[in-house]
Amino acid sequence: MALLEVKELKAYYKTEMYGISRIVRAIDEVSLDLQPNEIYGVAGESSCGKTTLIKVLSGTIKPPLKIYEGSVNYQFKHGNVDMAKVSNEELQKNVRWKEISYVMQGSMSVLNPVRKIIKTFEDIISTHEGISNHKEFVERIKDHVKKLGLPPDVLYSYPHELSGGMRQRVAIAMATVFHPSLIIADEPTTALDVVVQRGVLQLLKEIQAESKNTVLLVTHDMAVHANVADRVGIMYAGRLMEEAPSEIIFKRPRHPYTRHLISSLPVIGDKSGKSSLEGTPPNLANPPEGCRFHPRCPVAEEACKTKVPAMRDLGGGHRAACHLIQGAQQ
Ligand SMILES: Nc1ncnc2c1ncn2[C@@H]1O[C@H](COP(=O)(O)OP(=O)(O)OP(=O)(O)O)[C@@H](O)[C@H]1O
Ligand SMILES: [Mg+2]
Repeated sequence: MALLEVKELKAYYKTEMYGISRIVRAIDEVSLDLQPNEIYGVAGESSCGKTTLIKVLSGTIKPPLKIYEGSVNYQFKHGNVDMAKVSNEELQKNVRWKEISYVMQGSMSVLNPVRKIIKTFEDIISTHEGISNHKEFVERIKDHVKKLGLPPDVLYSYPHELSGGMRQRVAIAMATVFHPSLIIADEPTTALDVVVQRGVLQLLKEIQAESKNTVLLVTHDMAVHANVADRVGIMYAGRLMEEAPSEIIFKRPRHPYTRHLISSLPVIGDKSGKSSLEGTPPNLANPPEGCRFHPRCPVAEEACKTKVPAMRDLGGGHRAACHLIQGAQQ
C-alpha cells in the first residue's frame, strides 16, 4: 500500500498586481506515489516547481499558493489525510513532525538564530508531546543526536557557531526526533562542499535504512540522485516528465529532457564538452502550449507544439510523457 498517492494535482500561485491577476502554474497535472521504505528523488532545474510540490505534500500551503484540482492522499498509521482538505489543527496536532517532517532549503529556517539548539528541540517536543521531566528530555535528545553521530556539545551551541554541514545534520536530527513516516528534504546539500555533502547524504541514507521510512529528496543535482535515490521523478516547468527506478533512469533515460540532464553529468576522464540546452525554462505564468519542453527539445515534432503528451507506462515502473516514445521497449 502506498504511503502517498498524488492524483492530477494542480497547484498554482495566484497574484494580483494593479488589478491584473496572474496565475503561475507551478504544479500542473502531476500524479505520483510514494511507497513505504524508499528514497524518492525529485529532480529538475531551478523554478520547475520542486519546492512548490514539497509545500503541497508537506501541507505548508499558504496564499498565493492554492490547490486548484487533484488529491494528495496519505495513509498514515493513525489514519488517512487528504492535504487538499485537512484542517490546520489536524496538521499541527497529528501530522507535522510526527508523520511528515520537512528539512527546508537552507537549514537556518528551522533553527532559531537566538536560541541554543537544545532550546529549539525543547520547543518542538514541548508543543507536540509535552515535557514532564526535563532531565529525561535532555538525555533523550543527547541519545538521539549521538545515534546520528553528532557530538552532544552541539546541543549547547547557537546555530551560527556550527558549520553548514553540522547545521544540516542538526536539522536532520530535528526532523527525525519523532520517527516520522516521511522525511522531506529540499536541496539538503546544495550549499555544502562535496565532502561534507557526502556525509550529510550518508546520514540521510543510514536513517532511512534503519527506520525504513520514506524519504523525499529534492535536488537539481543528478549526481546526488544517482548515489542516493531508489526512484527518481524528473520535473520540467511544473510537470512530471519521466519517472523510473534509479538504475533504469540513469541507464536508459527515455525523455529528451532527462537524457539532457544525464548527459550533462561529469564523467571522470571525459574531456569532451558537455552539450547545453538552447533557450531558458518557460515562464510558468504563460507556459508553452503542447509539451512544455518543446521549444528547447532537440527532437520536437509538430504534435509536440499543440498536444500535451500523456504519461505513458513503459513497464517496470518506468513512465514518461513524450510523443516520440513508442511502446514499452526501444
Ligand atoms: N510566492 C510565490 N508567488 C508567485 N510565484 C511563485 C512563488 N513562489 C514560487 N513561485 C514561482 O513558482 C515556480 C516554481 O517555483 P519553485 O520554488 O517551486 O521552484 P524550484 O524548482 O524549487 O526552484 P529552485 O531549484 O530554484 O529551488 C517559479 O516560476 C516561481 O517563480
Ligand atoms: Mg526550490
